[in-house]
Amino acid sequence: MTDYNSIKEKARQMWSTFAAFETVTGLAAPELVKFSGLQKGDRVLDVGCGTGVVAITAAQQGAKAFGSDLTPELIDRAKENSKISGFDINFIVSDVEELPYDDESFDFVLSQFGHMFAPRPNVAVREMMRVLKTGGVIAFSTWPPELLTGRLFALTAKYGPPLPEDLPSPVEWGDVEEIKKRIGDLAKHISFHRAQYGNPAMSPAHMRILLETHIGPIAAVIKYLEDSPNKQSLFRSEIDVLLGEYFENNTVIQSYLMTRGIKR
Ligand SMILES: C[S@@+](CC[C@H](N)C(=O)[O-])C[C@H]1O[C@@H](n2cnc3c(N)ncnc32)[C@H](O)[C@@H]1O
Repeated sequence: MTDYNSIKEKARQMWSTFAAFETVTGLAAPELVKFSGLQKGDRVLDVGCGTGVVAITAAQQGAKAFGSDLTPELIDRAKENSKISGFDINFIVSDVEELPYDDESFDFVLSQFGHMFAPRPNVAVREMMRVLKTGGVIAFSTWPPELLTGRLFALTAKYGPPLPEDLPSPVEWGDVEEIKKRIGDLAKHISFHRAQYGNPAMSPAHMRILLETHIGPIAAVIKYLEDSPNKQSLFRSEIDVLLGEYFENNTVIQSYLMTRGIKR
């Protein structure tokens, strides 16, 4: 039987070094907030909030924002960020598969590259929809399998340790047909939009070093290959070639998908 507690413990460790990427995911946050259509005074929950970039952006638009995330180090940083930015946002450590909020307590439930990492998509969706008011909006950003981050995930699967067979890939959340299957019973008027942001980097190898340092799933494969230096350098060079495809003007362009639906 799949041990979800240990999967989540590993996820917590993996994501603990992510904070440095808030400067780039912070560029995507206004896009999701705009796409969601939230208005001043709305109660908004940001799940898998990391360091709080979406919640803080929603608060800037006048929303009453809340944030939750599995990783305590990121929630600590989110609290610091809300203090610095002057917003009173309640950030808590919590699993999107078990949200500590009442039924129908939010007008908007948002997730930017967050809920896609829950190991049981149906449980995550059920929870996000439970805490959302009927007629409220669910909106999220995810990485499609055919674009840069999706292809990076494919490389981690190729070089990394075998994963439990019943564990879905996070990038299935970037496939519009799969999304419709996952949320279609609970949400209506589902719409999609593609957007992109740029990661500043002097070269593909600079970007790869940032990924190795701060993105847990990549760092974990580098560590796994420590005793196989040939494979480790192959993994690194495949990443560099891939990043090279998206590199222009000292920027790595990252495209993604946004989804929006209304709770039935
Ligand atoms: C790529 S980061 C995105 C963080 C943030 N939303 C942003 O855009 O900067 C993925 C986030 O998902 C969180 N996460 C992973 N599994 C989770 C789960 N089961 N429940 C809640 N958060 C989870 C991680 O802790 C991490 O903060």
